[in-house]
Amino acid sequence: MKNREIEAAWDYHNGTKHSYESIRANRHYLDWENQPMPFKVYPDLEPIALPQHLSSSGMPALQAISLPSAPGDPPKIPAIQEVAEILFLSAGITRRRSYAGGEILFRAAACTGALYHIDLYLVCGELEGLEAGVYQFSPQDFALRRLRAGDYRSVLVNASGGEPSIAHAPCMIVSASTFWRNAWKYQARAYRHCYWDNGTILANLLAAAAARDIPARIAIGFVDTVVSSLLDLDGQREAPLSIVALGSGSPPAASAPSVEFLKLETMPLSKSAIDYPQIREMHAASSLENEAEIVAWREGAKKAEGARLKDEGKTENRLFPLQSLNDDEIPKDSIEDAITRRGSTREFAHESVTFAELSTMLDRATRGITTDFLDHLEESLNELYLIVHAVDDLPGGAYVFRHQQRALELLKEGDFRRDAGHLGLGQEIPADASVNIYFLADLNRALERFGNRGYRVAQLEAAIMGGKIYLAAYAQRLGASGLTFFDDDVTEFFSPDAAGKSVMFLVAVGKSAKRKKPSVS
Ligand SMILES: Cc1cc2nc3c(=O)[nH]c(=O)nc-3n(C[C@H](O)[C@H](O)[C@H](O)COP(=O)(O)O)c2cc1C
Repeated sequence: MKNREIEAAWDYHNGTKHSYESIRANRHYLDWENQPMPFKVYPDLEPIALPQHLSSSGMPALQAISLPSAPGDPPKIPAIQEVAEILFLSAGITRRRSYAGGEILFRAAACTGALYHIDLYLVCGELEGLEAGVYQFSPQDFALRRLRAGDYRSVLVNASGGEPSIAHAPCMIVSASTFWRNAWKYQARAYRHCYWDNGTILANLLAAAAARDIPARIAIGFVDTVVSSLLDLDGQREAPLSIVALGSGSPPAASAPSVEFLKLETMPLSKSAIDYPQIREMHAASSLENEAEIVAWREGAKKAEGARLKDEGKTENRLFPLQSLNDDEIPKDSIEDAITRRGSTREFAHESVTFAELSTMLDRATRGITTDFLDHLEESLNELYLIVHAVDDLPGGAYVFRHQQRALELLKEGDFRRDAGHLGLGQEIPADASVNIYFLADLNRALERFGNRGYRVAQLEAAIMGGKIYLAAYAQRLGASGLTFFDDDVTEFFSPDAAGKSVMFLVAVGKSAKRKKPSVS
């Protein structure tokens, strides 16, 4: 079982770290003539138009992002209308911007470099308004393309070792990345981006489903090759990342017809593609091979030594209890408004946000995620570290968020704008924002518990929380931007508290300034 040979995850992680020296030494340049298309296009498949009129749930965004997944009782079988709304709010086109070289179609969720390498697939039994099948969501014409006709859900039930939420789901949404679409710019680091960019999509998806009272549960434990064949992916250049069981109470699906590779034609993404073996190797090393391994993986992970509540609650320094707004006090902007208004802030004003605003973001983004890898909502693999530049009633400095106390612990006081700028790859955004929020995981524990798959899990969990921070910022009319970072320098900055932990995700929040220049870096 390759998954247990965890040097592979360390090799990938260490080999794709950014440092001042690695950035200087890297001679990679962007070959604009060979930029891949941000869409997967099947020229031979007819579009099946999705409903054009999408309604709003009206649920306040801050409530939607913090709700636990809806209970599965009574049964919840979404109709095509709700599926269309959820797909749009997760990965639909929300904005267009023209520039000299063409047009960028921005999507509902933030994505590194606006390269949009992740596709969503729908695997469903018969729904109101849609026949059973396996479909690809095509955001460019807001349509589905049918890869297979018939009910194939049992393939995913078996591939997930009988994961109960999948076994009772009327439909599932599978995310998959075509690596080259992101590696064109980010090279081998793109495998991290698979989970970052899927995390922001899933943050939106969970909130959109919760606002419609539809249960949604994320599964990471599945036989990779089986899910790849179902979606007609080769598992080398493109691969599945997660399955979301959507809805509940469906009778068991009949056994599916056999799954042969379809070898469907897709339009070439660019003139040529560069292979980054580190991506393929890390994906293979973290793949699970059969149903028995999945069941053992899931059970083992729950009982593992490393399973624990969010931080142990030991504190040594000054604590600042969160001052979060409750449901009666939060802004009433709906989840649909927050998602369609969201964009990454390109320039932050040096203005402060209030402690209540920051508290509300942290509180709402960390109330737990319903998954197959966390046993309960109180569990987490990541801890939040903050650099605060400008928050009313909070001294500037470095903090760690203590989950159990729902409080920020001051690690060191001071003005760290310059440090934050450096840690965020020398960019202005992290220096100018009001707060930088880093997600750090103890990778040793994650890998001991989940094998190499723990690397995927830790990255994804951080990115989902990061995606929720984005939404919580926009719901409060603030701005946010994901960022990349110098890995070891961040750990050192927050040490000794963070010693031994690895950075999984970074998001900056604050007030937007008027934009000077467009950028998609
Ligand atoms: C994980 C992550 C890391 C990002 N890193 C950077 C960054 O280092 N610098 C930057 O300017 N933007 C960064 N972005 C923002 C993306 O460029 C932005 O999401 C993309 O252009 C799409 O635009 P939108 O978020 O406005 O829809 C990042 C976004 C994500 C999700």
